[in-house]
Amino acid sequence: MFTIDTLAIFYLISASLFILGLKGLTHPSTARRGNYFAMIGMVIAIAATLVNPAVQNYGLILAGLALGAVIGIIIAMKIDMKAMPQLVAAFHSLVGLTAVLVAIGTYTEHAAAGHVDGIMLVELGVGAFIGAVTFTGSLIAFGKLQAILSGNPVVFKGQHWLNLALGVASLVLIAQFYQQGGLMPLLLVTAIALALGILLIIPIGGADMPVVVSMLNSYSGWAAAATGFTLGNHALIVTGALVGFSGAILSFIMCRAMNRSFISVILGGFGGEDDEGSEAAHAANQGVKSAAVEDLAFMIENASKVIVIPGYGMAVAQAQHALKELTDILDEKEIEIKFAIHPVAGRMPGHMNVLLAEADIPYDHVAEMEEINPEFSTADVALVVGANDVTNPAAKTDKSSPIYGMPILDVEKAKFVFVIKRSMRPGYSGIDNLLYYRDNCSMVFGDAKEVCESLTNELKNS
Ligand code: TAP
Repeated sequence: MFTIDTLAIFYLISASLFILGLKGLTHPSTARRGNYFAMIGMVIAIAATLVNPAVQNYGLILAGLALGAVIGIIIAMKIDMKAMPQLVAAFHSLVGLTAVLVAIGTYTEHAAAGHVDGIMLVELGVGAFIGAVTFTGSLIAFGKLQAILSGNPVVFKGQHWLNLALGVASLVLIAQFYQQGGLMPLLLVTAIALALGILLIIPIGGADMPVVVSMLNSYSGWAAAATGFTLGNHALIVTGALVGFSGAILSFIMCRAMNRSFISVILGGFGGEDDEGSEAAHAANQGVKSAAVEDLAFMIENASKVIVIPGYGMAVAQAQHALKELTDILDEKEIEIKFAIHPVAGRMPGHMNVLLAEADIPYDHVAEMEEINPEFSTADVALVVGANDVTNPAAKTDKSSPIYGMPILDVEKAKFVFVIKRSMRPGYSGIDNLLYYRDNCSMVFGDAKEVCESLTNELKNS
């Protein structure tokens, strides 16, 4: 028979596999292996939980597992890569809801049996609070990312004070719950935290959403850890802490990549519509040059170094396979080609890396922003494929721009810049791109995949 000590060893093994999984995910070449480690860890954790002597009824657990597995498999097969951030946000909301339900269920059960102590009450109060904030916060993030709600910040006078008051009220209620117990303070904490989740996320604008999703990821980890304490489950505590810390560290790294203060992002009110008086808006009245695919092919044919900047539009058009073909052709012609990856290009962390890896573009052709920025001045052609915000020099020059301070790819330093996109419409942050008005920049209008395919055909025939 499995004792609690044997189970602890299995949980330790699964926690170690989760850590190896995270380590693997730090590089595209080891990411697949990392995922396998994490999957094995999860199987061990679930199996160990199932053989726990405390489990008395397998019916509901197996039904839940089967239902969850079917829903998970269907979603994983059907999901469009572009919808991944909102899917992640939706999943986080479920973790939050679970933490709330476990806290309320555990309290009712233990109170009925007369088995409640102070420490447990604090765990339950904190678990319900974090879970409820995660639940509604993630739903709002989902709504904004899915464009069900407006991506613009919703701000009003006294917002921060209201949030502070709700935070203090929650602390007071948790203290009261600790001293006296009772379902009412627990339900009130939950209700306040549900409101706080909404209030914390509505003031955050579109451009900061990646940080929010990763922050909610962190909250969902803490909610899972709180559930682990409530249920006395070591695997949940360790896994929750891993998710909690890694989400927080990722949010921090993203804030650094956008040159934004972590606290100001969390307090919100950034990333909305363009300010009409900005330098970018004035620049919109000036002309832009456009070029044909043949011109682009000619410039690339005569270049010795080309840097490709993929962005969200590459993902929309699924142009990565055409770019792989371009890479092969240029390798053959001994023209150097590199891919410049901005940390928030696309719609989720690592979005571009995943797509380029899917198309088998060799890792040694792919460079992160810090590494590639000094190289733009040595490139003959910078080829922007469906990227916009991550190349906008307004981030460096226009103090009134909402993306001011975000480090960008120094695309304009290349001798010639070609931008493949369908129109002059702005990118995610909703602002005009000053790059398009530079003398060395030409637009190649069209769908990224179609243009890249025409480009490779031109180069093959030349
Ligand atoms: P964006 O600034 O969003 O620009 C993408 C551009 O792609 C658009 O201007 C669009 O122009 C073009 N496009 C769309 N479909 C296309 C197609 N089929 N063919 C060719 N072009 C197409 O993208 P970015 O430069 O990658 O920057 C990412 C932005 O998203 C940042 O503001 C970032 O903060 C935000 N964000 C990032 C994340 C993460 S974690 N990566 C998550 C959420 C939000 P047209 O419509 O004219 O074609």
